[in-house]
Amino acid sequence: MLYKVHLIATLIHILSAVYWLGAILITMTVLGPVMRFQPGKIATPIMSSIQNRVRRFVLVAIVLFAVTGSFNLYYRGLTDLGFFGTSYGRIFLIKMIPVAVMFAIYFSATLILRRLSPESNGTCCELEEGPKRAGRVFAILHMVALTSGIIVILMGVMLRG
Ligand code: HEM
Repeated sequence: MLYKVHLIATLIHILSAVYWLGAILITMTVLGPVMRFQPGKIATPIMSSIQNRVRRFVLVAIVLFAVTGSFNLYYRGLTDLGFFGTSYGRIFLIKMIPVAVMFAIYFSATLILRRLSPESNGTCCELEEGPKRAGRVFAILHMVALTSGIIVILMGVMLRG
């Protein structure tokens, strides 16, 4: 029974990762470049509602990561063995660093972009006529989140041994 829950938890964990990284990749390779060549008053509201929608799903993914990840820690016996005594525990703790970076970007990006440019609506792309600095920061935050995500996946797979 516990094994079946572990399988389902792992499936949900992986699907959440696919969604989040997929959303970052689509934003970087499709949405950003396409919106960049649109007039600001067209691009900003479209980008804004797309980003708001995506962010709602990513928030669900974050909750799912925490629940399924915690269950898998319990399944692997980490709650008894502790985090420092095993290589599993140590890899897990290292994995939490890029995870924290991703979570920090998720929860602060809107604030940062709004501060740089209120008209960006906190979801600015690289608008040609729009605020360039917010556009650059938008791209950098996505690149850092993507790099962290790739490291998180690598460490997650390492946890399986
Ligand atoms: C609160 C945050 C998180 C916790 C507590 C957590 C915990 C875990 C644990 C314990 C494992 C190992 C499962 C096992 O031993 O079978 C794991 C694997 C994994 N994690 Fe996370 N994780 C979190 C966030 C993330 C994030 C943000 C991503 C990706 C964006 C991610 C992607 C993965 C992947 C791809 C695996 C490998 C799955 C497998 O091969 O079984 N995790 N995670």
